Amino acid sequence: MKRIILIGYMGAGKTTLGKELARVTGRPFYDLDQYIESRTHMTIPQIFAERGEAGFREIEKNMLHEVAEFEDVILSCGGGTPCFSDNMDYLNRQGETVFLRAMPHVLKEHLLMGGSRRPLIQGKSPDELIGFIEENLQKRLPFYSKAKHIIDIDVIHTQEQINNYANLINEKVAN
Ligand code: S3P
Repeated sequence: MKRIILIGYMGAGKTTLGKELARVTGRPFYDLDQYIESRTHMTIPQIFAERGEAGFREIEKNMLHEVAEFEDVILSCGGGTPCFSDNMDYLNRQGETVFLRAMPHVLKEHLLMGGSRRPLIQGKSPDELIGFIEENLQKRLPFYSKAKHIIDIDVIHTQEQINNYANLINEKVAN
């Protein structure tokens, strides 16, 4: 079976749904950010602080090329992963890419619910956050839209919704 690769903006639910999809399918789960942190022994905010975003993107690309070679896995990428270098074309070669598409207000709600250790949105007020998401998402949509599958995501509150979305993704990639 092909790898299933979840992409989409910060707060779309890539990690949450990826874990559930792994549980539902019995496949191993990898989260690219967590993989980067364990391989570099640094947190994502530390990498941004010490190497800048450009340094992070370089590490991210290198780590992506390790983790996306594992067989039969569920992989959640970082929000920016598909939008730099030739990563999106690489992802499409490596597996069934699924864009978790969510409106800015949904992303904002998830990000506020989750609290944030994300360097790109650190310290933003809720108003600044929605403005940033709207602008940044526009730039990223052309990359995300190259995914082989798209799933529309609404605000997620319950475990039942998480399970339903995971099943939906599983059905989509099978067809
Ligand atoms: C980023 C998203 C983050 C993480 C880093 C940069 C982005 O991942 O990779 O903070 O550029 O959108 P999540 O989408 O899992 O928050």
